[in-house]
Order: sequence, then C-alpha cells, then structure tokens
Amino acid sequence: MIGARAIVALGLAGIMQTAAAQDLSWSEMERGRYLAIASNCVSCHTDLDHDGTPWAGGREMETPFGVIVTPNITSDDATGIGRWTRDDFWRALHEGRRRDGSYMYPAFPYTHFTRMPRQDVDAIYEYLRTIPPVEADHVPEEELLLPLQVRTAISAWNALHFDQGVFVPDLDKSDEWNRGAYLVTGPGHCGACHTDRNILGGEQEDEFLRGATLENWHAPNIRGGEHGGIAHWSHDDIVAYLGSGRNEHTAPMTRMGEVVEFSTQHLTEGDLSAIATYLKSLEDTPRDASDPPQEAVFQAGQATYFDNCAACHHADGSGEAYMFARLAGSNKVQSDDPTTLIRIILEGAQAIPTNDHPGPLAMPAFDWKLDDDQIADLITYMRNAWGNNGPAVSASDVADLRETLAED
Ligand code: HEC
Ligand code: HEC
Ligand code: HEC
Repeated sequence: MIGARAIVALGLAGIMQTAAAQDLSWSEMERGRYLAIASNCVSCHTDLDHDGTPWAGGREMETPFGVIVTPNITSDDATGIGRWTRDDFWRALHEGRRRDGSYMYPAFPYTHFTRMPRQDVDAIYEYLRTIPPVEADHVPEEELLLPLQVRTAISAWNALHFDQGVFVPDLDKSDEWNRGAYLVTGPGHCGACHTDRNILGGEQEDEFLRGATLENWHAPNIRGGEHGGIAHWSHDDIVAYLGSGRNEHTAPMTRMGEVVEFSTQHLTEGDLSAIATYLKSLEDTPRDASDPPQEAVFQAGQATYFDNCAACHHADGSGEAYMFARLAGSNKVQSDDPTTLIRIILEGAQAIPTNDHPGPLAMPAFDWKLDDDQIADLITYMRNAWGNNGPAVSASDVADLRETLAED
C-alpha cells in the first residue's frame, strides 16, 4: 500500500517540470497549484500520521483551547468545499471566516494568507476545484473547550492581533526582495512557527523570525543578516537548504522537514533566491555573551561527547557536509531555547529524504543511554566548545522535556 506521504509527493512531482518554467504562460489552475504548494496547504489538510487521503483533512493540531482537527478541503459537496464560491474562499483566506461567517481559529494561518492578493487566492480556488471529491467528515470541535464561545472570542482576538490586508511592496527595495518578503510573510507563513507569540497567541512584530517554540520543538531564529541566527549561512546555503533539503551545515528535520518536503523543494530557483535575499536582509541585535561553564561540567560534557557523538560529528564539531550536521557555529546548538537540542539527543533525528537527496539520514536516540545530568553537561559543553557560546542547560530542563514527551 502506498502511504499518504508518497501520494502527496507523487501529486507534487509534476510541478517539478513546470516549476522550472514558471512564466506568464501558466494557466490560472497551474498558478494556483504552485501557490498552494508555496503555502503548504496539503500538509495540514492531510492526516499524515495515519495515511489519510491528501486534502481530505483529519490532521490533529494543538491549540491553547484543545485539539482541533483540520477540515476536508476537497471538492466534495457535503463534507468538503464543493459548494464554496470564489467569494466564500476569498473570505476564508483573507478574513479567516468560514462559509457560515463564523471565525476560524488562527491555527489556520489566515493571519499570513491575508497577504495574498485576490488573483492569487482565486487561482488556488481554481486548483482546489480540480481535486477529486472525497467524502470525509471530521468532528473538529469535540475536544475544544466551549467552541462557540471561543469562536466568538476570536473576533476580539482578531481586533488585537490580526492585521488584515494584502502585501504592499516596499518601493525602495528590489523586485527580488519584495518577492521574497511576499513569499515569507504571505503564502510561506514562516512566522507561524518562527515568530514568538504573546500570551494570547499573537505573533509579536518585534520578535519577527527570531525563533519560537511550539509543540515541543523550537523553530530557531532564521534572520540571515548581521547577528541573525543564520548570519553564518550564505545566500546559496539558504537556497540549497530550502530547495534540496541539505546544505553544508545541516538538513531539515521534524516540522521543518515537512515544509521542505511538501513545499519549498518544489519552488523555482528564482523564488528560493528571493526568499534568501529577503532573509539575508534581516539584521538582528547582537546576543549577550553567556558566562563560561564550570570546568567540571565542561570536562564531563566533553567526555560524553567523545564517547557518543564524535564518531559522526567529529571531535571538533565540524561534522561531515551533507551527512552529519555541523555543530560548530550551529544556530540550533547555541539557541537560548534548548528544546530542539535536548529533543534531538533524546529521540534522535531523521533528516527527510528529498528529490535531490533521496537517502534519509538518521541519528540514533540516546534517551535510554544518557541520563539527565549527562545530557545537560553534554549540551553545555557543545554550546561552549569550538567557538560556540550559549547558556548552560540544567538537568531539570532535560527531565522536564523527557517527562512531557513521555506523556504525549
Ligand atoms: C498550519 C496548518 C494549516 C495550513 C498550512 C492551512 N490550513 Fe486550512 N485550515 C487549518 C485549520 C486548523 C482549519 C480549521 C479552522 C477552524 O475551523 O477554525 C482550516 C480551515 C480551512 C478552510 C475552511 C474549511 C471549512 O470547511 O470551514 C479552508 C477553505 C482552508 N483551511 C483552506 C486552506 C488553504 C487553501 C490553505 C493553503 C493556502 C490552507 N488551508 C493551509 C489549518 C491549515
Ligand atoms: C510548521 C512550522 C514551521 C514552518 C511553517 C516553517 N518552519 Fe522553519 N523550522 C521549523 C522548526 C521546528 C525548525 C527546527 C528543526 C530543524 O532545523 O529541522 C526549523 C528550522 C528552519 C531552518 C534551519 C535553521 C538552522 O539554524 O538550522 C531554516 C533556515 C528555516 N526553518 C526556514 C524556514 C522558512 C524560510 C520558512 C517559510 C518558508 C519556514 N522555515 C517555515 C518549523 C517551521
Ligand atoms: C550515527 C551518526 C550520528 C551520531 C552518533 C550522532 N549524530 Fe547527531 N546527527 C546525525 C545526523 C544524521 C543528523 C541530522 C542530519 C543533519 O542535520 O545533517 C544529526 C543532527 C544533530 C544535531 C542538529 C544540529 C543542527 O544544527 O542541525 C545535533 C545538535 C546533534 N546531531 C547532536 C548530536 C549529539 C549531541 C550526539 C551524541 C549524543 C550525536 N548528535 C550523535 C548523526 C549522528
């Protein structure tokens, strides 16, 4: 049997040929398909964990109010969006409203999709109408707390946190920069994961792409200008990472693996370059230097590193380009929030296979082998070896995450 991931991948394969030749000869439907890919609609609207039918919804998403299940957006009349008009669809993406007018949860990234102009949203609509109808009804709200009250409260939330309106180009910047800004802030909704939210769940403008934690993963700072999290990546490193799923530094894993697998690897070179140009233009303020770790902690961490990690990542943390991530200089290793770092060590890591690099790369899990103290010392060591600098991690940080993950 062929799984949901494979079917989605096959469906996207055709775009590879057309993508190279993106030009005005594209039909509205083809443009819509490309924009749907740039928006990664399919990965949320498919129950990837249970081999669900692509576009038929059913994926569970965590929200602060409980679990929400994504709806079916195939063209089925009864359970999908077969009866939706262009206007209904525009209102959903632009205003975050359902067909009956009620407010949608911002787990659907309409706060980003609102940047898409009408012609782009109409094109996606045309494309979705070509998806064969699938009957699939989900009961999205059974686990949510007081769903109706929450939906009503969203209108108040929107007033505070939702800046509705299409993308407005900055005329002082190049076309390429503007295209990148559009893709990142609109369809690509990178900030949905990479921008920290306030306690009410609104993305904070002054934290734009400075890193955020969701569902026990930390999506790191991806500003590429001076002092940004990926300042040490070149323009071409960003293009290679998003377009082929590998670069000299690392490879995408977990939720980012999904973004590359279903979305960015299918974008044109021109669009990837535009995204890179935009990210490289985002500067940041220098981080405060952390205190050096205690000598005993450093020594203990180093010993654990040599025994368990150096075989792949090398004694000097240089890794092996396109195989084993480079830990010297790594943004994820030095990031203030150690969630992803602790989690990779506990659970291991799989870099996703991509069209250009079909071989998956795996790192083993160490949860059974290393205790909380050993992992804490190991991380504190890596954060302060090889020219790295980052705050120490405590055994209780590791214990807390281990416990949370065990409950999931
Ligand atoms: C990050 C996950 C995510 C992404 C990406 C996403 N959606 Fe959704 N979508 C949701 C969730 C969750 C809901 C349900 C929101 C609610 O009911 O409050 C939803 C609801 C919808 C609805 C309303 C359906 C109905 O029956 O009321 C439409 C239409 C829709 N999405 C289309 C799209 C399109 C088109 C894209 C890509 C441009 C997209 N979605 C991308 C999560 C996502
Ligand atoms: C669904 C959540 C999600 C979305 C949407 C998302 N990311 Fe990520 N991203 C992550 C997570 C989690 C990580 C950390 C795991 C990893 O490195 O694989 C990450 C890592 C990265 C990295 C690697 C940084 C490093 O130092 O290794 C880059 C670059 C990146 N994302 C760029 C983007 C861009 C550009 C977009 C928008 C097109 C985007 N991401 C959208 C969740 C997301
Ligand atoms: C069998 C080889 C192997 C061993 C042993 C190994 N790793 Fe990894 N590691 C990988 C692979 C493969 C990846 C993911 C692919 C990639 O990013 O290149 C990875 C990714 C990472 C990352 C993500 C870094 C980034 O910037 O993306 C960290 C951190 C990491 N490993 C730390 C460790 C630590 C700490 C140990 C020892 C406890 C360890 N690894 C042992 C192969 C290994």
